[in-house]
Amino acid sequence: MPDDVTATASLALDPGDTVVEMGCGTGANVPYLREAVGPDGRVVGVDLTRGMLRRAGERVDREGWDDVNLVRADATRPPVSGPVDAVLATFVVGMFPDPKPAIDAWVDLLGPGGRVALLNAGRSDRAVAGPLNLGFRAFVRAAAPGDRGVSPVRSLERRVAAAHDQVRTRCGPTGFEEFGVGYLGLQWGERVTGPEQ
Ligand SMILES: C[S@@+](CC[C@H](N)C(=O)[O-])C[C@H]1O[C@@H](n2cnc3c(N)ncnc32)[C@H](O)[C@@H]1O
Repeated sequence: MPDDVTATASLALDPGDTVVEMGCGTGANVPYLREAVGPDGRVVGVDLTRGMLRRAGERVDREGWDDVNLVRADATRPPVSGPVDAVLATFVVGMFPDPKPAIDAWVDLLGPGGRVALLNAGRSDRAVAGPLNLGFRAFVRAAAPGDRGVSPVRSLERRVAAAHDQVRTRCGPTGFEEFGVGYLGLQWGERVTGPEQ
């Protein structure tokens, strides 16, 4: 199953739901999210980078998806008023020096029973992945600046771990799944209380 399908499935979306994708990039997840919420649902994509949003917008226009809203904004301070049914962020939280406040803001958006899901990459500890970890390290070094004095890979993993911890802290039922020979981790959590708590 492709990673974005697995991530979407972990949100347990129902027809008519509203789902917000933080750091939606070019909109790779949007078709799967649209399919899950159906014609009465809504998909909101938030991204800070003009070029990414432009490409997402071109696709939305080309496909005639009038149930998709794209917003240029900082996802750590989401410009969306809740409650919403789900929040998805794929390969995003590793870019935040301190992801905890962002996770808090995202969980605060959820109504009771709403879910948040984070898909992220990290080094794999499976034996078969040993040589591939070198490539992963080189990729992260080139793509993601780390925290000062910390290797980019460690920095990414620290941020991702902090985000996952915060999902587990803030949510009721939670789950974690590893796939892609251990390179990909999917953390999800469900909010059990109302938006006021
Ligand atoms: C690695 S890309 C992933 C894109 C998409 N989620 C995917 O899986 O294809 C990370 C995205 O997060 C966006 N991003 C990073 N920091 C952000 C922030 N503070 N607010 C909104 N978007 C952000 C970037 O512009 C980029 O589009």
